[in-house]
Amino acid sequence: MSRFYEDSIRRLPQRLGFLFLFFLAIWLQLFAAAQSRPPAAKPSAAESKPQPVDAAGHQWWQNAVFYEIYPRSFADSNNDGYGDLNGIASKMDYLKKLGVDAIWMTPCFPSPQVDFGYDVSNYEDIDSVYGSLSDFDNMQVAAQQHGVRIFLDFVINHTSDQHQWFIDSRSSRTSKHRDWYIWRDGKAPKQPPNNWQSVFGGPAWQFDPKTGQYYYHLFYPQQPDLNWRNPAVKDAMFDVTRWWYERGVAGFRLDAVGALFEDPNLHDNPILPGKNAYGDPNMKNEYNENLPEVHTVLQGLRKVADRYNAVLIGETWTGSVDQLQQFYGHNGNELQMPMNFVFMGINKLSPDEFRKGIAAADAGAGWPVYVINNHDRTRSYDRYGDGKHNDAIAKVMAGLFLTLRGTPIMYYGEEIGMQNNDPKSRSEVKDPIGRLGWPREKGRDGERTPMQWNDTANAGFTKGTPWLPIPASYKTHNVATEQKDPNSILMFYQHLLALRHSNPALLDGDYIPLNESDPKVMSYLRKYKNNAVLIVLNMSPEERKVNFDLASEGVTTKEAKTLLTTEPGMDASRSLQAMTLQPFSVYIGDVSGDVPH
Ligand code: NOJ
Repeated sequence: MSRFYEDSIRRLPQRLGFLFLFFLAIWLQLFAAAQSRPPAAKPSAAESKPQPVDAAGHQWWQNAVFYEIYPRSFADSNNDGYGDLNGIASKMDYLKKLGVDAIWMTPCFPSPQVDFGYDVSNYEDIDSVYGSLSDFDNMQVAAQQHGVRIFLDFVINHTSDQHQWFIDSRSSRTSKHRDWYIWRDGKAPKQPPNNWQSVFGGPAWQFDPKTGQYYYHLFYPQQPDLNWRNPAVKDAMFDVTRWWYERGVAGFRLDAVGALFEDPNLHDNPILPGKNAYGDPNMKNEYNENLPEVHTVLQGLRKVADRYNAVLIGETWTGSVDQLQQFYGHNGNELQMPMNFVFMGINKLSPDEFRKGIAAADAGAGWPVYVINNHDRTRSYDRYGDGKHNDAIAKVMAGLFLTLRGTPIMYYGEEIGMQNNDPKSRSEVKDPIGRLGWPREKGRDGERTPMQWNDTANAGFTKGTPWLPIPASYKTHNVATEQKDPNSILMFYQHLLALRHSNPALLDGDYIPLNESDPKVMSYLRKYKNNAVLIVLNMSPEERKVNFDLASEGVTTKEAKTLLTTEPGMDASRSLQAMTLQPFSVYIGDVSGDVPH
């Protein structure tokens, strides 16, 4: 045997070891790449297929019920006190049974969590608090099996200051990403470039000593605004949406979408009378919000979305319905679903104010999108509740919100009457704005508390310590208890959503207000071809009598056939001439009878 072979044989174990390590390294790399790469097949197949529509020409999202999930608070699968994606995946049966067609999850991307995920440090991964990309894929499979679509929250206006783009941007005035953010010299030494204020308190400019300039942040200083005038920013952010569409998401909710552009000349904003919760003068954000340039970006994002049949929802806070209408774009070429926040501004049960807000939304060309709760506002249970009849009032608000013409976006826990659990002292507050604005601004912890699944410890959300305290009312207001009670808020939601999904008038019908001068009872028809449904909502603590003459609407029947009511002993039908309503009650009846086609 030659020395060469002898040598080779002697070194064989060592060589095999090297080979093993070599292949292991390659396998590990391929595995890691596969983890971070979207699974190729599924969604591309969905590209550009014509979308099915119903008899009225409505697409799936117009007939759907959306449900916002705050992942940190929905269901904790690993008992670390924070909700996670596996937790969400485990609740698909519940969501389906409730009548949910699509969930929008607030941000679950890697983040330092200064603004609980709205400070994203990497748009193409999952924060380890919530799981991993493969957990995301598993959740998506579970959702698909239940016919539930997934929407992500796209934080488009700003990144975290820990995003690689910003780390590079702040490293020098000539760095590759410098112009990806908004950097300016101060007006004078120690003076920011102009008077703009952060909506989270204090100046909207942060001085960065390393390069001697200020950067702009509409929210926290840890959330620097992206410079959307730079085409590289646009390309990178558009690519993010493609990346997730390829992974199978059905669309995005676009965060703070009106704030993408600022006046390049940095005009000062007008000051208004009074001070806000942070002690800053009130200000009209004339030069840094709702600038027209945003519409060009939205048209571009929509073109990308259309290739994947995806849907865009907008966090569209606007001063008027006219301004909101612009977010649909010309011929609907921007957002399909800009949110209408009319209910967020009406914090009492006022038929009159509701009628005005709904009429304005309904008159617009775009399909209305309503919300009564979200992770930034005190829950509707407290906003509308009178402290005595809150459960009945929660059903009245559901009776309104879920029978309007338009798509509703619910907020987790609304369906069981979850209440706000605001911090009792400044030291308990987790949301930074609550610490800054205490006591006038208590922050948003109260509306973000864990979902109440049952009456066991921590409401069945976690076996660990929940990240936010759960209110004592979880003992009665929880999924398990309410599922057993036919008169619970949850059962009312479930029946109402089932009705909404199957009734042509509720899906496709016009909204026709009735008895508009009644100060206590709000009534309207929903009418589609020969289907008509009457909705009557007593928004007062007294019994009320109402009557309806619907002849002018082509309805000649004198009786409504009861579809759903909160009133005890559901009568099969009710006279339209003399209808008595219990305090805070809902009556929904079919009046199709002889409605002409
Ligand atoms: C709106 C989000 O709803 C809110 O929670 C967040 O703090 C701000 N945008 C900043 O991203």
